[in-house]
Amino acid sequence: MDHFVTDRLTAERLNESHLADLVALHQDPEVSRYLGGVRSAETTKAYLDVNMAHWDRHGFGLWTLRTREGAFAGRAGIRHILVDDVDEIEIFYAFKREFWGRGFASETATALTKIGLSRLMLPSLIGLVYVENGASRRVLEKLNYLLEKSTKRNGIDGVMYRIRQ
Ligand SMILES: CC(C)(COP(=O)(O)OP(=O)(O)OC[C@H]1O[C@@H](n2cnc3c(N)ncnc32)[C@H](O)[C@@H]1OP(=O)(O)O)[C@@H](O)C(=O)NCCC(=O)NCCS
Repeated sequence: MDHFVTDRLTAERLNESHLADLVALHQDPEVSRYLGGVRSAETTKAYLDVNMAHWDRHGFGLWTLRTREGAFAGRAGIRHILVDDVDEIEIFYAFKREFWGRGFASETATALTKIGLSRLMLPSLIGLVYVENGASRRVLEKLNYLLEKSTKRNGIDGVMYRIRQ
């Protein structure tokens, strides 16, 4: 589970050496637009600690993604999240801007969904997105996630999609 590969990307379990790449990713305002806004280096360090602890506790979590050439492309994962006080398990993903529009999110979300449903045998997975994040909604819809309800994300209008076994 520490590594997986897709056609074009390799995924590595989150570790402390990924901090600088994550800090840079989270400081791009376009990337962070639907992720709660730009984060300071300290906030991203706390994010890294929380997500490493998630791995230790649950045996799955956040991976960093690289191209075959070794360039950092983004991050993606499977994690517990409270939605309207219910413990859900979501897939999530974010890519450096230069890698948008090449199908990387679809490729990664496909792999995450397979891991979640087939390897982890989870009964269902959700995707939580801002209403206005058309690209991310499209990724979930292409993978047959079904729109389940409206909710809030960071206090902003969001929607929750779900896929079941
Ligand atoms: C959202 C994000 C992950 C998409 O990544 P990507 O690799 O460009 O996505 P893909 O190329 O796999 O697929 C995007 C799909 O959305 C479509 N799309 C792009 N912009 C769109 C928009 N504004 N409205 C609707 N659809 C859109 C694309 O045409 C494509 O669909 P297609 O395959 O049918 O042509 C990427 O833009 C990103 O990292 N954004 C910042 C972080 C983020 O928002 N993460 C998601 C949080 S829920």
